[in-house]
Amino acid sequence: MSEQMKAIGYQMNDAAPTSFEQDIPTAKGHDLLVKISAIAVNPVDTKVKASITSRLETPRILGWDAVGTVIEAGEKTTLLNTGDKIFYAGDISRPGCYASHQLVDERLAAKAPLILKPEQSAAMPLASITAWEALFSRLKIFPQYDDGKTILIIGGAGGVGSIAIQLAKVVAKLNVVTTASRPETEQWCRRLGADQVLNHSADLIGQYRTLNIDKPDYILCCADTDQYFDAMSALIAPEGMICGLVNSKTTYDMNALKTKSAGFIWEFMFTRPMFKTNNMTAHHNILNNIAELLDEGKIISTLKETLGPITPENITQAHRQLLSGKTIGKIALISM
Ligand SMILES: NC(=O)c1ccc[n+]([C@@H]2O[C@H](COP(=O)([O-])OP(=O)(O)OC[C@H]3O[C@@H](n4cnc5c(N)ncnc54)[C@H](OP(=O)(O)O)[C@@H]3O)[C@@H](O)[C@H]2O)c1
Repeated sequence: MSEQMKAIGYQMNDAAPTSFEQDIPTAKGHDLLVKISAIAVNPVDTKVKASITSRLETPRILGWDAVGTVIEAGEKTTLLNTGDKIFYAGDISRPGCYASHQLVDERLAAKAPLILKPEQSAAMPLASITAWEALFSRLKIFPQYDDGKTILIIGGAGGVGSIAIQLAKVVAKLNVVTTASRPETEQWCRRLGADQVLNHSADLIGQYRTLNIDKPDYILCCADTDQYFDAMSALIAPEGMICGLVNSKTTYDMNALKTKSAGFIWEFMFTRPMFKTNNMTAHHNILNNIAELLDEGKIISTLKETLGPITPENITQAHRQLLSGKTIGKIALISM
């Protein structure tokens, strides 16, 4: 009989998650087989769960933020090897990390930071890849050339905002204006390096006018794009660029950006793995950069809370917290 792994999965969107066992898969090609030591949760987990509208025979394993040890490497691997401690987000079209073991393509993973606990590392990959791609691939911010320009990061205290503030400050050397609606989230954003924190539950345009802040050259919206599109169009500086992360449910008047020659672009961090683009190794490179910045102490882990081991109860609690919309930084769980 093959060796078994443990996993937690969903058969329907309105059903509780269940624990089950299945054969441990074999690592082939570019795949690594990982024994998981810690994971983190993301809003996308709850969105994928919500999309399971007809009962699945095999439960869907969610979760796309993990750290663990490589125990088997496919025959085409060249970047990482057996025994390496790695961190990764992986590929949304494959089974996730609410499990004891997982396969991941080595081009999407990198060696985990040396100085962090597993749960501190697990907090980083998905949000860091998102923030890095948003800043440097989509908004096309060039460190050195763009020093001193201004970015507005809407929703600064969440998983993505928390690392975006740090990368915008430390790597891009921008002036960082962000938003938070509570004293504890405002304080969190300032601790991560934000220069100014506005309140997104009040009028953003009015706050810009009252405080006499320069118009942002870049805007990264880590919240509902529809809620902020009009304000972002009004606020963006001439020749500026806006990046959205959250699906729209409406249509936009792109003419609002025309006279300023401003642009809008989407970031979806699963684009490269999902379409198997030629530059999939970008995730390996981004995570290497993140590990180095963490080990050098230039940025800090965004972990805020560890809920305990990966169990159906703790996963359900983590989803409840994510759905509250009030998460600060990241929530992690440790191995089953
Ligand atoms: N496209 C992609 O590749 C990608 C990748 C990652 C995430 N996302 C999406 O981006 C969104 C943010 O992800 P996340 O991981 O950062 O989420 P998160 O950690 O759950 O974000 C929580 C934060 O959002 C803030 N917030 C709540 N409502 C807000 C509002 N109306 N306006 C501004 N901020 C608000 C809260 O701040 P206060 O408590 O101060 O209000 C809270 O600290 C999610 O919808 C997620 O699915 C997309």
